[in-house]
Amino acid sequence: MFNKIKLWKNQNNSTSLREKIEEIKKLPIPEHVAIIMDGNGRWAKKRALPRIAGHHEGMKVVRKTTRLANNLGIKTLTLYAFSTENWKRPKNEVEFIMKLPEEFLGTFLPELIEENVQVKMMGYKDQLPLHTLHAIEKAMEETKNNTGLVLNFALNYGSRAEIVDAVKQVLMDCKNGILKESDVDESVFSSYLMTSSLNDPDLLIRTSGEIRLSNFMLWQLAYSEFWFTEVLWPDFNEEHLLEAIQVFQNRQRRFGGI
Ligand code: IPE
Ligand code: IPE
Ligand code: MG
Repeated sequence: MFNKIKLWKNQNNSTSLREKIEEIKKLPIPEHVAIIMDGNGRWAKKRALPRIAGHHEGMKVVRKTTRLANNLGIKTLTLYAFSTENWKRPKNEVEFIMKLPEEFLGTFLPELIEENVQVKMMGYKDQLPLHTLHAIEKAMEETKNNTGLVLNFALNYGSRAEIVDAVKQVLMDCKNGILKESDVDESVFSSYLMTSSLNDPDLLIRTSGEIRLSNFMLWQLAYSEFWFTEVLWPDFNEEHLLEAIQVFQNRQRRFGGI
């Protein structure tokens, strides 16, 4: 568990937050939480700052969110950090975002190791700058035997491409006799996706008021609970995550049943 002191510091309302956490822990916690971290640019614009300032601030929120997720006993936290469509952005913005994993892991990796967090990544590695890829691969390597929270970054991730690639691989394996067409079912197909080692998200959070998926985990979110907030990602805090989980705990999941 993360050191509680670390979690509570800078919190004026630490007592109420701690109480809320204990309250929430009495009910089932979503095992896999996925977050579309949106609104960095608008956060910066509101402050007359360049968009990159919003991305930098957003990185700090990733730390806080990871700490709390681990503390709550969430098993997997998937964070949408960069989509396959985000390359359309100005070069300087993309370059800045691609430097963030190094900065984030450069300072946070020792704590992740200490706290038994396992870092993973899903997305297309080939187009990533080498410095970005190396930072992530180093973190993945150094945390691969950890058994606590899985911190899964969706970086250069796009769900449609993921599905098309899975279809191609299934066809290829059928052609090569590795797989029989009659054996292809939902579970086999899932094993061809980038999330093959993970359960589907129980809860999806999107910040910034946009009510859309933006090509995120289209297959995996089929029966997830969705929680949207107007809060911009750099303003997202522990209270918001706890609120989302509380709402989740009061939802009735039916999976098509009654
Ligand atoms: C999310 O914030 C971060 C990335 C997509 C990389 P945005 O940069 O999309 O922020 P807005 O939506 O423009 O405010
Ligand atoms: C989705 O946000 C991608 C990430 C948060 C990484 P976008 O800001 O790219 O989504 P759209 O363009 O508003 O749909
Ligand atoms: Mg956005």
